[in-house]
Amino acid sequence: MRLFKISITSCAIIAMMMVVGSPTAIAKTVKVHLTAQETTVVIDNKGTKYAAWTYNGTIPGPLVRATIGDTIDFTLTNPKTNKNSHSIDFHAAQVDVLKEFAPVKPGHSKHFKFVPHYPGVFMYHCGSSPMAEHIARGMYGTIIIDPKHYTKAFPKPDREYVLEEGQYFPNATDAKAMIENRGWTASLINGKIFHYDPVHDPNATEVLMSKPGELVRIFFVNANINMPVAFHPIAGIWARVYPSGNPKNVMYGIQTYNVAVAEGDIFDIRSPKGRVTNNAIVDHTMSAALRGAITILMNRPDADPKLGRGKYILLR
Ligand code: CU
Ligand code: CU
Repeated sequence: MRLFKISITSCAIIAMMMVVGSPTAIAKTVKVHLTAQETTVVIDNKGTKYAAWTYNGTIPGPLVRATIGDTIDFTLTNPKTNKNSHSIDFHAAQVDVLKEFAPVKPGHSKHFKFVPHYPGVFMYHCGSSPMAEHIARGMYGTIIIDPKHYTKAFPKPDREYVLEEGQYFPNATDAKAMIENRGWTASLINGKIFHYDPVHDPNATEVLMSKPGELVRIFFVNANINMPVAFHPIAGIWARVYPSGNPKNVMYGIQTYNVAVAEGDIFDIRSPKGRVTNNAIVDHTMSAALRGAITILMNRPDADPKLGRGKYILLR
């Protein structure tokens, strides 16, 4: 996973410092630079190659994270070695689709700034034509906009993980099939089939981990082309679901939550204390689950303390 270099170039509105609150309420500028890369990536645990289009060479693109009040200072570069125009569409931004989100030709770049007004978890993606092909080939990612403070209804979690689901169309060039939902053979979780599921794929080496009783927060984005996601934690229940990841949208005790295409939601889960358990976090839609959309979350006392923290919230 790559978290962005976050540079604090503008700081602290003095008035803000005078407001009683936490020191985290300091506005900063978050510089984000994405480069469109038409390249080859590996889409499963055994090394199958795929002719992808990406941001910065990976499916999904880098995780972008900022706090409400920050300014995102964004640059997209489309190198002249690419064959296609590419663009960016940040779901967290309120701008002009014909300006900021317009296609960028090979050899050009685009720069703009925006201030996100809603906290949550949002998709970003390429909107160049044909959009189905640009997204299916891998041009999507997640931007998290954190609220300024945690609250009782939106507590600080012990671990955080980002999961992004996508449909895998092995014939990368058939955009017509993509919009007719023909020819998708697998589901990708963070760019790989059964990425974190050693139960269904003996080649899988990674899983999510927490200690029994910890609060685990999943930032989930549905980057499928056509399919909603029935997001369910087998052997568990979502303690809270926050539609669009906004702390003001809170639901309790949800078993399966329907995540629309291009939606991002936050899911909190807490495993029982005092015993080892495992959850299989699935897209309960069988055509997706049994073709790759299963993620194992192990809850055990010896859980790797690095996982779900710092740069290990989007496991590559
Ligand atoms: Cu593109
Ligand atoms: Cu969109």
